[in-house]
Amino acid sequence: MIICSLKSEVGNHINNDLLLGKTIGLVPTMGSLHNGHLSLIESAVKMCDKVWVSIFVNPTQFNNKSDLKKYPYDLKKDIELIKNISEKIYVFAPKTKEMYEDEIKHKNYDFQGVDSELEGKYRKNHFNGVGTIVSKLFFLFKPTKAFFGEKDFQQTQVIQKLIEIENHKTQLVICPTVREKNGLAMSSRNSLLSDELKEKASIIYETLLHLKSNFKTQEFNALINECVNKIDSNNCFKTEYFEIVNSISLKKLNSFSEKNSHRAFVSVLVDNVRLIDNILLN
Ligand code: PAJ
Repeated sequence: MIICSLKSEVGNHINNDLLLGKTIGLVPTMGSLHNGHLSLIESAVKMCDKVWVSIFVNPTQFNNKSDLKKYPYDLKKDIELIKNISEKIYVFAPKTKEMYEDEIKHKNYDFQGVDSELEGKYRKNHFNGVGTIVSKLFFLFKPTKAFFGEKDFQQTQVIQKLIEIENHKTQLVICPTVREKNGLAMSSRNSLLSDELKEKASIIYETLLHLKSNFKTQEFNALINECVNKIDSNNCFKTEYFEIVNSISLKKLNSFSEKNSHRAFVSVLVDNVRLIDNILLN
């Protein structure tokens, strides 16, 4: 499997492939790959001639230094996981300097508000950081399709805005959330949790399912309070936000209306590890 760490190497491959009329799939990741990432890669393999998996822990999207420091990284292990999936797969694993040179800074985008709800309230400039790195990757790979997970639904909406703002010809493909047997959404951060807490964290998806079954008939506030109380009844769990929002604007909704598409989002600190999840309600 070809593993590149320099943009110039990637550029050569991409130019050749574009001349040959090949479709290029891009799966951006921060490594520590799990089945959620693998499902994106597998979709890309089905839909594209070449698949680039980028592995880069992007410093500008971390507003919290200790979160960046403890973010798991093991390139060898990641390569082992994907090397036998398909010969179409190439890896780009650059160093920070290769992506940012001497200025580790995010750009400031106008994502028309989708970045300021939910995660945006708790992680200042997080989406500016995501936009900055994904923009760099899109200009480098000129991907036909780029694959992102529904697990980070707000991120997918920010990327769609980025595509429009910068006029990329890339099609965004959103892949469903892959879960552990107990319903916990897979995440690189799960590896920071004890087995016991991982098991207990199933409560997050359980409350989302409970909400989905009841949001049309019960008052939103009462229902959400019930979910938050269930989660926070364990001392190691602290809900940061739990909201029902309009699926398109991501703005908070206070009551059910047939004319809206609703989506619920939750963020929970479990032993200081941030876990997020969401579900389409209707
Ligand atoms: P990372 O958290 O590594 O996730 C890479 C991609 O995998 C994202 O599109 C994410 O939504 C998807 N993903 C993660 N867990 C998933 C799951 N359980 N099921 C389905 N898809 C899942 O998201 C990032 O990295 C970064 O912000 C990045 C886009 C790479 C920019 O740095």
